[in-house]
Amino acid sequence: IQVGVVYGGKSVEHEVSVISALQAMKSFDHNKYEIIPIYYGKDQQFYTGRKAMEAATYQKLEDIPKLLEVVDWVREGQEVFLKYRRLFRVKQRLDVVFPIMHGASGEDGKFQGFLETLGVPYCESSVLSCAIVQDKAMMRRVLNSVQVPLVDGFEITRSECILHPETLIEKAEQVGGPWIIKPVSGGSSIGILCCDDKDQLLPTALECFAFDSKLVVEHRFTDFREFNIGLLGDHDDIKLSLIEEVFKSDTILSYVDKYGGSSSKGMESISRRLPAGIEDEICEAIKEAARNAFKVCECSGVVRIDFLYDNETKALYLNEINTIPGSLAAYLFKDMSRQELLDRCINLAFR
Ligand code: DAL
Ligand code: MG
Repeated sequence: IQVGVVYGGKSVEHEVSVISALQAMKSFDHNKYEIIPIYYGKDQQFYTGRKAMEAATYQKLEDIPKLLEVVDWVREGQEVFLKYRRLFRVKQRLDVVFPIMHGASGEDGKFQGFLETLGVPYCESSVLSCAIVQDKAMMRRVLNSVQVPLVDGFEITRSECILHPETLIEKAEQVGGPWIIKPVSGGSSIGILCCDDKDQLLPTALECFAFDSKLVVEHRFTDFREFNIGLLGDHDDIKLSLIEEVFKSDTILSYVDKYGGSSSKGMESISRRLPAGIEDEICEAIKEAARNAFKVCECSGVVRIDFLYDNETKALYLNEINTIPGSLAAYLFKDMSRQELLDRCINLAFR
């Protein structure tokens, strides 16, 4: 089976995507799958074969091990990398595409829509599911419909904010400070700002609008814990991973917390406890909310859902769903090898 692994992308999570894809490409059963690495450069061009390694933006990736260095299945004479194919061509199609891109265009349904148009099966969640989940405002609307617990908050557009700044202030006061302001299509915490002071709401929101024309403003907890869980499957056949607790060095998990600043350290630099040492009650609440969210958002493949637990009120909230999570959340599935997880994802693409 020929699997086109597409990585890179035009979002701010380009580098993270390269790491996630390298990890995955190494872990596939290479007797079973022929992996075609397809690099989607920051110039929005697709590259494969040597061209991928030579692409200008790929060359610029600092501290990230290059594909040829890390992939031990690239042997001299092996055709995979050396072949040039017209990507996604109609006659000799790839059997399946595995998009491993985070954030805008790769994880938000747009690329998935492109694949639908070409009629190429693909792994992970559908156009609709990715689009809903990647938009933090739309996700809130959908999750609210099934009473998945969400942090108090509201959405606001740039024009609304500029024309009626009082709306921002009024709604924010209802929610109660301090606040956290997020561009709706963000990822890896990029563009997310904290605001403690009512007078700073408008300037902070305007700063945030540099990343998106729509924002979500939420109450920000000051004493909280963060838990993540992985889910694998589709519809009613959902496997849950262990729950991890992640530890932050600042008010929000920053890009540095997540990826250690140096991308070559990958996801390992974050400090985490797996499994999380939590009460059964919280554990069950996380599992139930995660399952409900996965279902109502019609997710498929492997997903990671992130929760916040407010120590003050002892309440749990769903914070984020990642339809293409960093490292494909493989480290959370302790009873499953990466190879098995990838196998499962490929099989799901054909259902
Ligand atoms: N968006 C990143 C990759 C994650 O949360 O896993
Ligand atoms: Mg994320």
